[in-house]
Amino acid sequence: MDLSEQTLEKIEKTIAKFPKKRSAMLPILHLIQEEKGYLDPEAEEWVAAKLEVTPIQVREVVTFYPMYRQKPIGKVHVKVCRTLSCALVGAYKVCEKLEEELKCKRGETSADGKYTIEFVECIADCGKGPVVQVDDKMYELIKPEKAGELAEEIKRMAEAGPEAVATAQPGTPGFKG
Ligand code: FES
Repeated sequence: MDLSEQTLEKIEKTIAKFPKKRSAMLPILHLIQEEKGYLDPEAEEWVAAKLEVTPIQVREVVTFYPMYRQKPIGKVHVKVCRTLSCALVGAYKVCEKLEEELKCKRGETSADGKYTIEFVECIADCGKGPVVQVDDKMYELIKPEKAGELAEEIKRMAEAGPEAVATAQPGTPGFKG
């Protein structure tokens, strides 16, 4: 499997931390997913050989934990928290608005490959819900009426890449939502 030198180095260091190679499976799968975006059968077989386990043992782990992805995701990954605190202040409506604006159903990737929208469980920011995580960036206090503005920012991210978007985040003082 084609992995960068940097990821290979991290994998070796991770394995060295554990008395048994197989104990390194979860963090190694994360490292590969970080680079590749998802875990395909080739990745599972590679990990199995690396950790001296059977491919089915890796498959069991990949399919058990929802944080592992088995198919490619869009250029921008949108995660809407749907757990109680966020749900009570409008997370479902926020998600519906994002789905409508980005033309992408939750749990799917848009036809143009730009967006993946997912419902996720609590992302540990319950006091500032509804909370939406876009790639690595957290957006707080996204009331349904602000969701359209967030969708516009997400569209800009897809066009230019997240680093190019310098606007303030909703929920922060500079954001004019
Ligand atoms: S319930 Fe949404 S961040 Fe905790």
